[in-house]
Formats: sequence, structure tokens, C-alpha cells
Amino acid sequence: MDRVYVFDTTLRDGEQSPGATLNMEEKIEVARQLTRLGVDIIEAGFPISSLGDFEAVNRIAREVRGSCICGLARAAAADIDRAWEAVRDAETPRIHVFLSSSDIHLLHQLRKSREQILEEAVAMVKRAKSYLSDVEFSPMDASRSEPSYVYQILEAVIDAGATTLNIPDTVGYSTPEEYGRLIRGIFENVPNIHKAIVSTHCHNDLGLATANTLAGLVNGARQVECTINGIGERAGNAALEEFVMALHTRRDVYNLTTNIRTTEIVKTSRLVSELTGIQIQPNKAIVGGNAFSHESGIHQDGVLKERSTYEIMDARTIGLIPNTLVMGKHSGRHAFKRRLSELGFTLSDEDVSRAFMRFKELADKKKQIDDRDLEAIVADELRIHAETYHLDHVQVSCGERSMPTATVRLIMPDGRVVADAAIGTGPVDAIYKAINRLIEIPNQLTEFSVKSVTEGIDAIGEVTIKIESDGRTFIGRGASTDIIVASAKAYINALNKLANLRTATVGG
Ligand code: KIV
Ligand code: ZN
Repeated sequence: MDRVYVFDTTLRDGEQSPGATLNMEEKIEVARQLTRLGVDIIEAGFPISSLGDFEAVNRIAREVRGSCICGLARAAAADIDRAWEAVRDAETPRIHVFLSSSDIHLLHQLRKSREQILEEAVAMVKRAKSYLSDVEFSPMDASRSEPSYVYQILEAVIDAGATTLNIPDTVGYSTPEEYGRLIRGIFENVPNIHKAIVSTHCHNDLGLATANTLAGLVNGARQVECTINGIGERAGNAALEEFVMALHTRRDVYNLTTNIRTTEIVKTSRLVSELTGIQIQPNKAIVGGNAFSHESGIHQDGVLKERSTYEIMDARTIGLIPNTLVMGKHSGRHAFKRRLSELGFTLSDEDVSRAFMRFKELADKKKQIDDRDLEAIVADELRIHAETYHLDHVQVSCGERSMPTATVRLIMPDGRVVADAAIGTGPVDAIYKAINRLIEIPNQLTEFSVKSVTEGIDAIGEVTIKIESDGRTFIGRGASTDIIVASAKAYINALNKLANLRTATVGG
């Protein structure tokens, strides 16, 4: 069977989802899990876009082994130099250079002629090539570009040294027939195409990202750019789990294979959702909560008699196994650490100690602890890494006909311990008002939701919120068996992301 390379851009295009900012430790955990999943290339970020992005790509390049590590760059010398600085220590580094090719972009955004763009593309691919052998080029908005111009650019950049040619459907406008035709046209009209790998990059604005990706593969593409859970700019990117499972389940149609360990899919999906705060819709293909549940009596009856009557995939293939009791009150630190490493977490000793304390506190309150609880604890601990403000204490008083009152104590960036209290319409409102008195960053709460991590009344509650400030969205998450505490943590988490972005912007 023909092999398809999987290029995951969860940490770059995926992180462009509104509010989905990840801190450094979270990005490293995601990158490690992507390697365990079997991703061939990890696009770790856009190094010139911020100091934080540069440092994250650089650390992933130095610490994550087993996948090629790629940095994104516009077709500009400074971008390429910065991307090279970031990825140079990777086991196998790649630079991904992009430049728009559609007349819409050339005319209205770049205000340059086709000749100028062609020249710049060639010059910048050559510059990247002077640093390393693995260079990818993307003619941005390719699907809305004049095909003959796309062929011309591709031929020129292959001569300049590009080894992967990525064909973005940047605004998710293409249909499967059109996208497939474009890929076929490239093979038929670019004379030196055999020297490069053709790649798909499909956005999901019309819900066609996976269909377009598969059309690209049918017509000869052998690399797919995708994200976990399909997150990304606007409606997102092609979802890794969808096209991988389509190839796996319909081998009879595609006769294509990937290096993905499908049993790691669920774990990766949960990790990305947990850390980005972007919840997975229940009816999402492959990884949605309902993807393997049957509501209709007729279907249930069929599946009980023979699974294949109504199920096209075995849930175990994607790593969906019944959640078993893994740890108890008497489990020691050693067993705890081993289970975390089996779950794929590589934490420092200090992080393990803190997470272990949380586990012990939880074990006192909750009889049965399974992997989902451990994942929630670890995600909560990882969030603490990028904290500017730390929640030290929260207490509320509320009830029927009382005035909901909250007292909060925070540790400020300079180490000062500060406290305040406020009255609100409810306990959460009171907490948020008290926090606002201490951290004066104007923002608006736009979404608030609570869900339990596991079944049972003693479950951990996970609160996800969205706040908006200056037209930007920040997602905050917090977990605790006490949903009032989880609400306070979620707000502090969102404010920390907002504060960190402000510092990065002020710092240049
Ligand atoms: O969608 C797009 O065009 C991109 C490019 C940077 C490849 O993400
Ligand atoms: Zn994109």
C-alpha cells in the first residue's frame, strides 16, 4: 500500500482557533503525544510571530524526538532566519514557507504582481534551502488561484529546492471535485513534480475539509496537513482522526496507509481538548461522545447480536476502552507516576509531587478514580505553569434569600498576597467581581459551562469559560470537585492568558 505522510498543525493552525492559546508546557505535552500517535511532521508554530512561539518551537525541536519538527515562515528573509533558529536543533528540521498566489490576495492584500511573487517565492525557498534540505512551500489560497500560475510557481520552487508542495484551500472554498482536479492538474502540468511530495491543506468552512483531503489523496497527494479534533482558524482544518480512520476503514477504496497508531487517537483528542479548552461536539465523527453510542432500540438490538450490523469501526481501534478503576486511596507515589507515564505524561518531579497531592485529596473525596480524573488533574497542574496570578484561596457564602458573597486571596506577580471580597447575583458572579477588584483587566464573560469529568455525584467538575477583551477571546479552564473553586480557577486561567498576551505585546 502507498504511504501517506501526516503533517499535524494543531500547534500552529490549530492554535489559531479563537481562545486556544497553549502555554509552553502544554505545547510540549501535545508535541510528545503527537509523536506517540505517529505523526510524521509536527508544525510546532510560527517562530517570528512572537517570542513565546519562537521559544515553544525551539524547545519542541530540542526535546521532542521521533517526528520531523517544522516552523512556519512567510516568504521573508527575517521569517526564514527566525524559523531556522527555532528548528535547527531538531532531529529532522523543516521550514515551511508560504506566499499567496491568488489574484484576490495579490491585488488587495500584497499589492504585488505575479512576476514579483514568483521571484520572491524562488528567492525565499533558496534562502531556506541554504540552511537545510527539507523545505516546504505553500502557494496560499491556491484553490482560488489561476491553476496555470500555481503550476508555474510550483515548477520554479522545486527548481529552487522545495521538497514538499502544499496546496492550501485557505478559505475552505473548494469542492472535492475541484480540489481533486487541482491536484491532478499539478501532476499533469508541473514537469519536475516527481522531485517533490504534494500535500493537502484543507479548511472546513463548508464542512468539506475531510472530503477535499481524500479527493487530494485519490489524485496523488501523499502528505496531509491536519489538526487534532479539526481545530483551527475559523471552522478549522481537516481532522486527523477523520481522514486517518477513513483510510483505515475503507482500505478497499483508498489502498493507502499512514504511520498513525490509531489506538492513540482518543487519548490525543482528549488531551488537545483538555488543554485548549475547545470541547468536542458530541456528534463529531470518530471522537465525539456519541460516535459509538446507539440510541435506537433497533440499532442496540443489532449491535448486541453482531457488532457489524450498525458499527463500521471497532471502538478499540481508536483507543476507546472502558474506563477502568486505575488507582485508589492507598496507591503510592510510584504507582501514580507510572500510571501518568503510561498515559503519556512526562512531568518534572515537582509537577508529579503537586499532582500526587491533588490525587490524594481527590481519593479522600471520591471512591473510584480512573484515567479521566488523572488527565483532569494533570491538565490543571500544567495550567499553573504560565500563571501570572495565582488563586490562593476562595470562599463563598450563598443560599436561598442570602446575599451571595465571595472572598478571594491571590498571589500577585510580585509575590504580594492580596485579598478582597464582593457581593454578586450568585456565587460565581461574586467571585468574579472580587477577582476583578484585585486584577483590573477589563473583560467580558461570554460563555460559562460546567461538565463532570466522570459519572457519579462525587465527580470532578470542569468549568470552561470564555472571556473577551479588545476583540480577542480567551478560554479558561479549571477543575475541582468543588465547582465554585473550579469556576474561580477557570477565570484566573483565562485572565492569565490575557495578561501573558499583554506582556508579550508590550515587550514587542
Ligand atoms: O490555510 C493556509 O493557507 C495556511 C498556510 C499558512 C499554509 O495555513
Ligand atoms: Zn491553514
